Amino acid sequence: MDYMQKVSEMLAEKFDEIPLANVVTFGCAQNENDSEKIRGLLYKLGYSMTDSLEKSDIVIYNTCAIRENAELKIFGNIGKLKALKAANPYMIVAVCGCMVMQPHIVDKIKKSYPFVDIVFGVNALELLPQLIYSCYSENKKQILSPQERTQIVENTPMLRSAKPKASISIMFGCDNFCSYCIVPYVRGRERSRKPENILREFRQLVAEGYKDITLLGQNVNSYGKNLEEKVDFADLLALLCTVPGDYVIHFMSSHPKDINKKVIDTIRDNPKISRQIHLPVQSGNDRILKLMNRRYTIRQYLDIIDYAKQQIPGVTFSSDIIVGFPGETFEEYLDTEELVKKVRFTQLFTYIYSKRNGTKAAEMEDNISHEEKAKWLNRLIKIQQDIVFEHLDSYTGKTVKALVEEKHGDMYTARLENTFLAKFASDTDFSGEFVNLKITGKRGTALTAELIK
Ligand code: SAH
Ligand code: SF4
Ligand code: F3S
Repeated sequence: MDYMQKVSEMLAEKFDEIPLANVVTFGCAQNENDSEKIRGLLYKLGYSMTDSLEKSDIVIYNTCAIRENAELKIFGNIGKLKALKAANPYMIVAVCGCMVMQPHIVDKIKKSYPFVDIVFGVNALELLPQLIYSCYSENKKQILSPQERTQIVENTPMLRSAKPKASISIMFGCDNFCSYCIVPYVRGRERSRKPENILREFRQLVAEGYKDITLLGQNVNSYGKNLEEKVDFADLLALLCTVPGDYVIHFMSSHPKDINKKVIDTIRDNPKISRQIHLPVQSGNDRILKLMNRRYTIRQYLDIIDYAKQQIPGVTFSSDIIVGFPGETFEEYLDTEELVKKVRFTQLFTYIYSKRNGTKAAEMEDNISHEEKAKWLNRLIKIQQDIVFEHLDSYTGKTVKALVEEKHGDMYTARLENTFLAKFASDTDFSGEFVNLKITGKRGTALTAELIK
């Protein structure tokens, strides 16, 4: 708080006009949730937000380390800031987030990108006012070396993106150590927020009119494990559903090893919870799942899906898949195709395996060329596209509830619970509201619909 005041005064002195800040998110939903906190802090300090890099007085790149191409893209973007910085000497360039939790990356920034003024990792957001202060007052770079910070900071101000969507981080970090994944190394050990703090934030969002609220964690199904009180994810869901109002709750990600019948039953019993479940499977082959350290078999995965389908009418699933894990054969990849055809996901996020230094999988032998893996990925994308088209067709004639997101002229787009988009015409502006739609067909990857008055 001391630094907040000092920085506000310093900025008022330094800038004739309101200084502008640009916070760019490169990672996942949790990364974006952190960006909303960074924007909240900057706003309190006296900055206004801008999308323009040229006009920015501070640019903050909130980075991701999940795959090599994410990191390459970020370095490309940082490189472009050099000229801007030269044109505006007051400009601060800051890099934060998952990527700079790796010592070799911080070294690279120091060496090759000397115009970067501030570096701070995950869980260090609240240090930002202090870092800006020291950067200006000492005229010195503030590069924090990666360091695990385990505290949970409540009540960080947030500048959220536009209604009706919002997210709440219910937990931080990850303890699962899937053998391909960098997240546990950069986000640290798993910690859950107290249910009462989550409930307070949730109530506030509903009161402000947010209608689509996503609970975030790397593995929401292990929520509560480190808390003193006995509370699990299903209890948390049930608790939040007691808040009156018109809203839908989503959550991500679920881990198939930890999702259980209690969670499914809680979804069944609470219509405010989305009927679409994101359940990343990663591979359709048991040997590969074992090498990935996922700790479930395809039989167990299908069993929980079957149970959910029995209990929750109309439930749909989305998933993440990695193709080309070290040692994966074409035959083993074909098991993934088979699984995808069997479950018929409504949405699939597919990735080619990317080697992450420091992970177990990075030490495994990998003989398949990138080119070959790209072929497998394309096959999978094609299969999934056909499945999505069939899902879309199955909606024709149905009546659905959807949340209106955007307006283009007199056409609106609304999102169904399972994330499909429907386009419809309306004279009345229903932006941010739930509407009932009758689906008339599909155009491209979206549905067409008529508003039911
Ligand atoms: N905690 C979440 C996902 C976090 S990362 C979960 O377990 O579901 C999002 C997705 O990125 C993962 O599900 C995985 O499919 C993909 N991913 C993670 N590490 C990867 C790597 N090294 N190469 C390619 N994809 C990866
Ligand atoms: Fe990564 Fe696995 Fe943790 Fe997800 S559960 S963040 S894939 S280690
Ligand atoms: Fe998310 Fe990327 Fe970090 S996926 S947790 S921002 S490594």
